[in-house]
Amino acid sequence: MVEVEKSRILEMLSEQSFSFLNQGPLKAAAFGPDFHFGVAISATQNEGAATIDGRSPSIWDVYARRKGVIRNKAKPTVTCDFYHRYKDDLLLVKALGFSCFRFSISWSRILPDGTGKANVAGINFDNDVINECLRLGLIPFVTLYHWDLPQVLQQEGGWASPLINRWFRHFVKICAKAFGNRVKYWLVLNEPVGFTSLGYMLGKHAPGKRNLEQFLKTVHHAAIAQAEGGHVLRELVPNAQIGTCFSCSEIVPYTSKPADLSAARRIDLLINRLFIEPLLGKGFPEDDKGLMDKMARQNLSWRFTERMQFDMDFIGLQNYFPLVIRHNPFMPFVQASVVKASSRKVPFTSLDWEINPGSFLQIIKRFWKYGGIREIMITENGAAFKDRFSQGRINDTERIDYFKSHLSALLQAKKEGVNLKGYFAWTLMDNFEWAEGFDARFGLVHVDFNTQLRTVKNSGYWWRDFLNSYS
Ligand code: BGC
Repeated sequence: MVEVEKSRILEMLSEQSFSFLNQGPLKAAAFGPDFHFGVAISATQNEGAATIDGRSPSIWDVYARRKGVIRNKAKPTVTCDFYHRYKDDLLLVKALGFSCFRFSISWSRILPDGTGKANVAGINFDNDVINECLRLGLIPFVTLYHWDLPQVLQQEGGWASPLINRWFRHFVKICAKAFGNRVKYWLVLNEPVGFTSLGYMLGKHAPGKRNLEQFLKTVHHAAIAQAEGGHVLRELVPNAQIGTCFSCSEIVPYTSKPADLSAARRIDLLINRLFIEPLLGKGFPEDDKGLMDKMARQNLSWRFTERMQFDMDFIGLQNYFPLVIRHNPFMPFVQASVVKASSRKVPFTSLDWEINPGSFLQIIKRFWKYGGIREIMITENGAAFKDRFSQGRINDTERIDYFKSHLSALLQAKKEGVNLKGYFAWTLMDNFEWAEGFDARFGLVHVDFNTQLRTVKNSGYWWRDFLNSYS
């Protein structure tokens, strides 16, 4: 059994008196027998082998070569070398007691030309991962797009190109035909608001554009892609369970001043509503007239179309933190900015992300209230901390507390009637954390990036014990 000290985080949280935190020991069995517990990774963050077996560069390989965009000049060329070590890593997943494994397909490994003919070596790799999962009794959850567009398609305009939907349908067809006889659970897009806004408006992720007009086009196309990906899978994979993932954050205005309230509403619209509402057939959110008009003026193709609607079997929600928002007239377009957690009296992670399981509960309930969602799975949730070795172990108490408190909130949401079917911890092992490089460590397993040595952290052992109590 892993010893867990009561940490600063739990103390601070209990001061906020979340009643669901005080309901006795947390038991996996309380989530019910058909609940899916898994860990998630993604291709660019874990695979490495960037130039091997016919894979062409993705936008992340190219973006990472730019000066000053990624912490410590990190590159996703090797990362955790999952490409060569997947067997051992899947054994770890199994040993930690998880029943599901979420990973993504590298588009440029499967289709080095972005479109056209599939690369047999690329297909073989994902086949091997899927077969190994099945051999170990792990249920594979496949994400089709986790942010790594082939660079050849970026050269043609990427997500801003009107051709992207044709390219994406082709990619989905190839994957459905190659893996559909063994993969039941599919996730079409990972966090569309993340790759469109960070990649095309804020320039903080690949492909590093700061162009409002392009951003608006990417939103339009990604909203179509998430639904069309669903249609292709429905047609080609009998009995598929189809979902797609959304990031979400409770948004709290900094003060009750009208300017802060409306700044918070604008950010809420962008972060929480922009992609789910068209998917559910509600159209793009229009109640913030000012913001939507600004968007429409920028991009005449900004129109809701029925191509954006699809009846998903489940929705994947990914939550890490709530956001406190204040009016900021100097911020272009949204005129709002985030009030850092470290400047307020709240617990936060090494990325200055507020830790607040109460906000996790609220945002899940809010999505459920939309109606029209069949099931919700939490497809990512986790935290980065500055892990330190002590006598060969990493006693990451703060991460354990993070998981405990968020799982308690999840259970509360379930008790309050949300049809929750799964939870995936982010992430199996420390990996390439996008613009943060290798500095931000989210793993249940520590990775030494010089030697590739894996060391299970105490949070990993905590999960093993928690899941072993499943009976
Ligand atoms: C992404 C992951 C990422 C995690 C932590 C999510 O937005 O899907 O790829 O590592 O957040 O930043």
